[in-house]
Amino acid sequence: MGKLVICDHPLIQHKLTFIRDVRTNTKDFREHVDEVATLMAYEITRDIPLETITVQTPVTETESKVISGRMLGLIPILRAGLGMLEGVLKLLPAAKVGHVGLFRDPDTLQPVEYYIKLPTDVQERELIVIDPMLATGGSAIAAITSLKKRGCTQIKMMNLIAAPEGVAAVQEAHPDVDIYVAALDDHLNEHGYIVPGLGDAGDRLYGTK
Ligand code: URA
Repeated sequence: MGKLVICDHPLIQHKLTFIRDVRTNTKDFREHVDEVATLMAYEITRDIPLETITVQTPVTETESKVISGRMLGLIPILRAGLGMLEGVLKLLPAAKVGHVGLFRDPDTLQPVEYYIKLPTDVQERELIVIDPMLATGGSAIAAITSLKKRGCTQIKMMNLIAAPEGVAAVQEAHPDVDIYVAALDDHLNEHGYIVPGLGDAGDRLYGTK
């Protein structure tokens, strides 16, 4: 079973409160999401391996650590995932970015992939799938399935807020995927919104409502 990591650093929790607040305007919402994404990137990379190299300081030669040549890939799910992308790239500027676009078929209610563009060496990379809201888990599961079909094996999921239903669904479908969230909320309502949540992440990021 993949682990669920709640990134409960005080700075993340503080900023998340402003993100939740209905009075927060689009500009401030986007800035807070960007900042939380950077802070979460710090947590999600906690276990990436280091190697020791020799470096010459102004005083002496010494051994010191650098991130070993591990290659990372960031996979925002369109469109709300884009709101967290730049924040993660601030800490991981060498990561390559792939995009996955999904919409929900109104008849079957199943996610349908309408766009995918990935780095050519995606299967060699450790991937972080990014989506602010993990609600039913449908999009996350479909995106991860799509990546696995293309040979990807090392995948983590990063969300601002998750519903227990979505976490359970992803853990069931993809037990090898660890999920990092800033908050685990209470439940999904009858409209598929996370409660208490933050409303529609895409609309709040881009001012479309
Ligand atoms: N997507 C959102 O943007 N918000 C929710 O609460 C659930 C899914």
